[in-house]
Parts: sequence; structure tokens; C-alpha cells
Amino acid sequence: MRITAAIARRPHAPLELADIELAEPRDDEVLVRVVACGICHTDLVCRDQALPVPLPVVLGHESAGIVERVGAAVTGVAAGDKVLLSYDSCAACPSCRAAQPFYCHDFFACNFAARRRDGSTPLRAEGVAVGGRFFGQSGFATHCIAHPRNLVRVAADADLAMLAPLGCGVQTGAGTVLNALRPPPGARIAVFGCGTVGLSAVLGAVLAGCARIVAVDPLPARRALAQSFGATDLIDPASLPATADAVRDLLGDGADYAVECTGIPAVATAAVHALAPRGTAALVGAMPAGAEYRFDAIKLMTQGLTVRGVIEGESRPAEFLPRLIALHAAGRFPFDRMLTRFAFAEINAAIDAAERGAVVKPVLVM
Ligand SMILES: NC(=O)c1ccc[n+]([C@@H]2O[C@H](COP(=O)([O-])OP(=O)(O)OC[C@H]3O[C@@H](n4cnc5c(N)ncnc54)[C@H](O)[C@@H]3O)[C@@H](O)[C@H]2O)c1
Ligand SMILES: [Zn+2]
Ligand SMILES: [Zn+2]
Repeated sequence: MRITAAIARRPHAPLELADIELAEPRDDEVLVRVVACGICHTDLVCRDQALPVPLPVVLGHESAGIVERVGAAVTGVAAGDKVLLSYDSCAACPSCRAAQPFYCHDFFACNFAARRRDGSTPLRAEGVAVGGRFFGQSGFATHCIAHPRNLVRVAADADLAMLAPLGCGVQTGAGTVLNALRPPPGARIAVFGCGTVGLSAVLGAVLAGCARIVAVDPLPARRALAQSFGATDLIDPASLPATADAVRDLLGDGADYAVECTGIPAVATAAVHALAPRGTAALVGAMPAGAEYRFDAIKLMTQGLTVRGVIEGESRPAEFLPRLIALHAAGRFPFDRMLTRFAFAEINAAIDAAERGAVVKPVLVM
């Protein structure tokens, strides 16, 4: 079928809206009419090739839509169902078999190769193959092919444009706190970077009952939003180059937990150095391929610090997304205050607004 998609052809260049070819879903696949798709910082990291996704590609990995057709072997989802799309996994490796698909041994191949595991792609533009399985979806398009494994069914009256960003940025931030770090009530946590991921971590910290929530971001509007979400202390890293010292001073001996949500290696250093003895830092920001972290070895050893990576908030989307939706409905998880809607045709303006910091989470409405 013919669809409209936004193709990334060159680093740092605008995406190109084009009329292209989408193949029929295979027996185990699902055709989804995309209703909305959030733009995540990771889409831009991939467009710019800091993570080497093969170009040309259709990016987009926070999509939500309506199932249009299912392959002959698909069960559990049917035409007309409203669905949220999330990351993909292989279903066969030791992590997947241990119900930890977020650490799938083939996470990179399943999500960043933008190809099926057999190397094929359902998208072609003027006869040339275009990556069409980015995060098992390639959602910057009017339609996409997904797998039942990376779909979550939602209620028939769900507002898909509101829920779309749950599939990556929001579950990543909230899940890093609620699933991975699991701070006990009264803990002190510092969140570095208040984009969608960091702000969702702040919301997670409030739900976990953290007593002190330090939000670090150079943008005043983002610090203000973090405060309105429940951050107790705000730090502008631009005016305070020694951010780690500032966090430690603020909290006495430091943070029990730190979450790095910027993708800047020096900020990861600050997050670890802001920890109190026995603290744990979760490194979430997408670092450029080949980047290395630097931490003080003596501090790490003598203070018994834990430094760990976290993918997708250790979320099993079929369980965690309905939980977040219920918390939102109960007024306890107001993530929708981060969202700004754009028409699909405005995709480059939406990216520009996110890069300038003018909006937190742009959501494209197809
Ligand atoms: N690990 C995962 O599974 C996963 C999932 C989603 C996103 N990510 C990554 O997480 C990161 C955050 O994503 P996002 O969509 O929230 O991005 P974003 O660009 O919206 O947010 C980043 C924030 O960091 C702030 N910042 C910049 N310099 C800073 C500094 N020195 N100190 C503190 N804050 C600073 C920016 O002002 C911005 O508010 C990105 O690197 C993204 O690629 C990782
Ligand atoms: Zn796997
Ligand atoms: Zn993402």
C-alpha cells in the first residue's frame, strides 16, 4: 500500500515527507494505522548517526494507532483494536526467556537495525529499501508494521495522542525509578536532565515517596515544570559548574539515587559523584557510540557505589503501561502536561521546537 512517511536521509538534515510503499504484514505481523507518534531524543540521536542506524530510515518509536489488519498467525489482537507501540525484542534469548526483554541480547538488532531479523524491511521509496522496523515500528508514518510482541492494547475510548509517549520516554523515566532503582520511602534522589525522561523520573520519584527530589536542568522552564511535578530542589548546572558538589551540599552527604537523563558523558560523571555512600546511579541517557564514562575510582570503591545502565525503565509494556494509565486517570501521574501536539506535516518544526527546548515532548498527530 502507499503511505506517507518522514524519511531520514542525512544527519542533521530535515526529514523528508514522502509517499512510499509499505508491504503487506507477514503472517506474524500487524498493520497499524498510526494515529499519533511522540518524538524522543533517541530519534534525533539516530538521525544524526551518534547511534549508527542505517540511512535512509523512517524513525519514530512512540507510536499509537488502530490495528487495520493482522497476519494469519496473529492472536490476541484484532482489527479495530487501539494499541500503543513500544520497543521490540527477540523472544528467544536468555533475557527474553527470563521475562526481561528490555535487556534482550539482540536489543540493538531488534530496535536500531530498522530491519526484520532476516534483514528485510517493509518500506521502499522509488524502488530503494528504506529502514522500516525501527524499534519494531518506524512510527513517523501514516501506517506501520508491528509485531504483537511490541503492541499493548488500550481501551476503545483511549486518547491515543496523549498515550503515545508512554511507549518510550515516559516509561523509561518512570520505570527507571519504579522498576529498576525502587527507592524506599524517604530516599533522596537527584535527576539530571528534565526532558521527558527526567521529568517522568521525577514523577516516579514522587510516586515512590522520595523525600528529596533534586532536579537539574539548565532550562528555567524545565526546572519549573519539575518543581510543579514535585521536585523539592532545583539546580541550574549552567550557573554551577560543580553540579555534583552542589547536589551533595544540598543533601548533606549526597543523593541515595541519581538518574542521568541527558546523554552527556560529563553529566554521567556528575551524577555518580553526587551520590552519598552506598548510593546508586542509573545511567539512562543515550551516549554516542564509542563514548566512555569517567568516575573517580577511589570514591566508587570506598563508598560502595553502584553504577548501572537502564534500558526502557525495565518496563514490560503490557504490564507497566496500563499501570501508568491507571495512575494518570487517578490524577497521580500527570505526564500529559509535558506534551505539545503538532500536525504530522509539521514534523520538522516539531523537532526544531524540541531541540530549542521550546517544547518538552512533541507528539505528531497523523
Ligand atoms: N536508556 C533508554 O532506554 C532511553 C530511552 C529513552 C531515551 N533515552 C535517552 O535519554 C536521554 C533523555 O531523553 P529526553 O527525550 O528526555 O531528552 P531531552 O533532550 O528532552 O532532555 C534532555 C534534557 O537535558 C538537559 N540538559 C542539557 N545539559 C544538561 C546538563 N549539563 N545538566 C543537566 N541537564 C542538562 C536539557 O536541557 C534537556 O531538558 C536522551 O539521551 C535519550 O536518547 C534513553
Ligand atoms: Zn531477546
Ligand atoms: Zn525513545
